[in-house]
Amino acid sequence: MANINFLTSGKVFEIPDNSNVLRVSLRYDGELPNRCGGGICGNCVFKTESGQENLDQVKIQERRKLGEEWLEKGYRLGCQTFVTEGDVAVSWDEEVTNIVKKRKPDRYQKVK
Ligand code: FES
Repeated sequence: MANINFLTSGKVFEIPDNSNVLRVSLRYDGELPNRCGGGICGNCVFKTESGQENLDQVKIQERRKLGEEWLEKGYRLGCQTFVTEGDVAVSWDEEVTNIVKKRKPDRYQKVK
């Protein structure tokens, strides 16, 4: 079990290991914005404020939609991210969400 702290909405939930961030938010009304649920729209972007080591690996959809610049700043997509184990705190910001939503996805780069 772990805690996820949705700092922006001021809600904290105890969750089982390997819980999806957006699904937790939807189930318990954590208020993380969302739309497509598939890594396309960017509405669910959040910043990892603590516990980055407790999140699973970055998905290809996140690489495309966020690009390295946002990933390096600690941003992830809630619909694509799972809390593996341990506590995590996340926040989101309308200004950033709007930038990410408009960002054109990077092209998928094939690894040989
Ligand atoms: S809900 Fe659309 S990218 Fe996550």
